[in-house]
Amino acid sequence: MIHLENVSKSYEEGIHAIRNMSIHIEKGEFVFLIGHSGSGKSTLFKLLLKEIEPTSGEIYVDGQNIKKISKRKIPQYRRKIGAIFQDFRLLDDYNVYDNVALAQRVIGIRTKEIRNSVPVALARLGLSERQRSYPNQLSGGEQQRVAIARAMVNNPEILLADEPTGNIDKENAKGIMQLLERINREIGTTILVVTHDRDLVEKMGKRVIIMKDGEIISDRKKEEPISET
Ligand SMILES: Nc1ncnc2c1ncn2[C@@H]1O[C@H](COP(=O)(O)OP(=O)(O)OP(=O)(O)O)[C@@H](O)[C@H]1O
Ligand SMILES: [Mg+2]
Repeated sequence: MIHLENVSKSYEEGIHAIRNMSIHIEKGEFVFLIGHSGSGKSTLFKLLLKEIEPTSGEIYVDGQNIKKISKRKIPQYRRKIGAIFQDFRLLDDYNVYDNVALAQRVIGIRTKEIRNSVPVALARLGLSERQRSYPNQLSGGEQQRVAIARAMVNNPEILLADEPTGNIDKENAKGIMQLLERINREIGTTILVVTHDRDLVEKMGKRVIIMKDGEIISDRKKEEPISET
């Protein structure tokens, strides 16, 4: 699903954010990405979203070399990928329903279809009762769930989550990770999660890639999750 071959990204002289990185991530995998600040995690996501171009190397998504996607086709390519961030990035003047609906309106989906798919996306995240609420009326955990609903409403093949629990308390953070795990298990979405929460990562028993100074220093395969009995 995601395949990097000797990818490097330098922003300017001396800043090598990604160095000669090769990774292979299968369709339907759930992968944690950890590493100190500045190790290149967000840069990797920007490369996958084609917001920036690598300095060298090749990136394949769904078998396609994304370097070859023309500017005109980038919006279509990005529909394959849902993204969520630490700061939620919801629109304060839009209610929950409209925040999610907007992700469909901008790509020209008809109102009739939006009326079907938004409630489904919200129900999946346990937000059916909050459709008419505004972001400032929601807890951090709820806001992040709205952001996940928005990222998932167009059924992306890949979900990128850049520190999705960075701004929420520990209990809610666990809930968000469990929701991502469930989306991965039930829908089969390939999910990459950047996090600093080592405890949570250990409990989940998923593949863990550790980055340092733009390089992968460890790639631990999936383990059985530690049971909570
Ligand atoms: N637009 C940019 N211009 C120049 N340098 C940049 C730019 N974006 C990132 N960098 C540099 O690239 C390196 C990797 O940054 P990146 O944001 O990918 O790190 P990160 O692992 O996401 O860190 P954090 O955990 O703090 O979010 C850092 O040294 C950073 O300063
Ligand atoms: Mg980052």
